[in-house]
Amino acid sequence: MKPWIELGTAHIPNNGGTLKLRQRDQEFSITLSGVRGELMSSRAFNSEQQLALQGCAHLNKRKSARVVVGGMGMGYTLAAALEVLPSCAEVIVADLIPEVVEWNRGALGDCAGRPLDDSRCVVHIGDVGDLLVKPECSYDAVLLDVDNGPEGLTHSDNSWLYSIDGTSCIYSSLTPGGILAVWSAGPDNMYVNRLRKAGFQVEVATVRERPGKGARHTIFLAKKSAR
Ligand SMILES: C[S@@+](CC[C@H](N)C(=O)[O-])C[C@H]1O[C@@H](n2cnc3c(N)ncnc32)[C@H](O)[C@@H]1O
Repeated sequence: MKPWIELGTAHIPNNGGTLKLRQRDQEFSITLSGVRGELMSSRAFNSEQQLALQGCAHLNKRKSARVVVGGMGMGYTLAAALEVLPSCAEVIVADLIPEVVEWNRGALGDCAGRPLDDSRCVVHIGDVGDLLVKPECSYDAVLLDVDNGPEGLTHSDNSWLYSIDGTSCIYSSLTPGGILAVWSAGPDNMYVNRLRKAGFQVEVATVRERPGKGARHTIFLAKKSAR
């Protein structure tokens, strides 16, 4: 078997550790120091795509739509969102780590079909939370995959996103009928309670890491009332 080749490293702010991008043949892997196994792999990305397909399903017949994707990772969620969104959509993709965006403009970009080349994409380098405290009713969908789940992993400051304050802010940032979709490694009843408390109607979907097989992941689908 060919050895891994290291393509780049990046430091997560506030001592969040080091991300490492590696390639072996056509396979890419991103690891985080201190975390066993891979953070992301180009071998399995069905649940990342499902996050977008389920979170944007209500928008596929719209003439336009405004969607936030946080974070970029290997670009699978972003690419799947672009696939189902109309030609006049705007998709703002946020990532804390500039190198992750650079990697997607380089060799890593081929994994998900170079979604950053799509003219509907706007890149925000920084915290996705910055976009969610913007004026009310700004987005038709917010797709979050920035952690292992609502308990946080890559960036401790992310806990705000899943708090009652953060959840209420995201509720306000959505248009009526808008959806917040959140990727998680597993279920979290406390988070579901917080989402309901903020006003969302919540469904919890289980999705596999590969179509029909592999680990089971969770997608929280939280809908703002249409009125
Ligand atoms: C698991 S990956 C996302 C995978 C992505 N869904 C895909 O399809 O490849 C998580 C990404 O979120 C970014 N991230 C973590 N916290 C963030 C935050 N608060 N704001 C923006 N990006 C963040 C990380 O740098 C990393 O690129």
